[in-house]
Amino acid sequence: MTNNPKLEPFDMVLFGATGDLAMRKLVRALYRRATAGQIPPGSKIIGLARSDLTREQYLDEVRASLEKYLNAGELTPQRWDFFCGLVTYLRVDATVASDFEKLARELQGRADNVRVMFLSMAPSLFTAVCANLAAAQLVTPKSRVVLEKPLGQDRASAERINALVGSIFDEKQIYRIDHYLGKEAVQNLIALRFGNALFEPLWRRGRISHVQITVAEQVGAEGRGDFYDQTGALRDMMQNHLLQLLCIIAMEPPASSQPDAVRDEKLKVLRALRPIVGGDVQTKTVRGQYRAGAIAGKPVGGYLEEPGVPADSRTETFVALKAQIETWRWAGVPFYLRTGKRLQEQMAEIVVTFEQVPHFIFESGREPSPNQLTIRLQPDEGITLSILAKAPGESMRLRPVNLGLHFSDTFKEKSLDAYERLITDVAKGNLTLFMRRDELDAAWAWIDPIREGWLQGDEAPKPYTAGSWGPAAASALIGRDGFSWHGEV
Ligand code: BG6
Repeated sequence: MTNNPKLEPFDMVLFGATGDLAMRKLVRALYRRATAGQIPPGSKIIGLARSDLTREQYLDEVRASLEKYLNAGELTPQRWDFFCGLVTYLRVDATVASDFEKLARELQGRADNVRVMFLSMAPSLFTAVCANLAAAQLVTPKSRVVLEKPLGQDRASAERINALVGSIFDEKQIYRIDHYLGKEAVQNLIALRFGNALFEPLWRRGRISHVQITVAEQVGAEGRGDFYDQTGALRDMMQNHLLQLLCIIAMEPPASSQPDAVRDEKLKVLRALRPIVGGDVQTKTVRGQYRAGAIAGKPVGGYLEEPGVPADSRTETFVALKAQIETWRWAGVPFYLRTGKRLQEQMAEIVVTFEQVPHFIFESGREPSPNQLTIRLQPDEGITLSILAKAPGESMRLRPVNLGLHFSDTFKEKSLDAYERLITDVAKGNLTLFMRRDELDAAWAWIDPIREGWLQGDEAPKPYTAGSWGPAAASALIGRDGFSWHGEV
């Protein structure tokens, strides 16, 4: 039985159609959903970009990207023909109002369809696009706009964008995307917390000693040096992906899965984060920048050698911090978050460490290991609970062992990738996994003082060798509280 219901035909207008995100992730997601029957005949996928391409040339680029990013056997002549039939391309400069007439002609007579405007482009262009869509009378009651992150550079610029977009689209038509929320393992975390009675009594101070969230990447700036250097890890990853994961871990049980029930609870977490300001910026955060090193045995250059990156750049490619949530549930429970590029592994995980037993009655040469619940987001999605068990033999020695759920072994159905799920959610009108304006504002309000503190401190980011786990200061940050990063000895 399929878990993916059929959708009505809809129109997808993809701004930034030749860009990095579109080519790496969006066209693949659209191809998969289209060939799975969820973008039915009668739908249109309209790619828009400034490049002077014919439809055929654009399709050549799409095909090359699919050949690169699809799995073997997914791209068949029959499926490709069907997908091609949905796709058109228009050369549009998002800042030129008259260019939108081409789009108006393409969408003529289709106002009854759901219309998804996917803005996969620099946030500095969001307001121009929305204003031009409105001027060309392309915003119908069934229109939805998808805004890619990072939405703005800080709280003030995000608010300016939100105000302008909000003057054209109703909040219920605005889908602020954070693709981490679309990951299967994050969905499963929600299922684990709110579908099982087992964990709730333990999900609090007194039972949980601390939480770690790690999103580690082996890739570097990947030809996006210009963009990345303006952004940095704090704004590229921490402000959105890691804070959203923190919200899912820490939020109170929502009354339902309705979008606002969930988003209200996430907002409360963001608003309860203790601000990191003044001297705390030095003691509770670490920022780093990679130097040359090796990834999986292959030498790689440092960040400052990446194309598009100024030789004196102080942009951080790594950030670790200690967050505290000031609520009854979480007072005194530290949340350690870290993310970085050119780290030892490509992986993302959340580790919840429980308190020790109050009194240990068994033989042990060292401190007994506390129970840990690890939610692995990637690459191999799964959930592991480590418990102590008796090792075989005469003596009563305990050893940590894992109870594990590996999604790929347990479920034979293929799960959707994050963008596949989120695109269909937009088409269905389901806002649960998208950020509301006030959530975004609260996230920036917490992030901004950290960046300001770094700028005022005038200290350069700490260097770390590509292929390591980041600067030694990140280990010291968690070590000061008597803990260590998961996997670090
Ligand atoms: C994006 C960031 O939002 O997430 C990239 O802009 C990062 O810098 C990417 O590489 C990571 O996503 P994923 O799904 O590959 O972990």
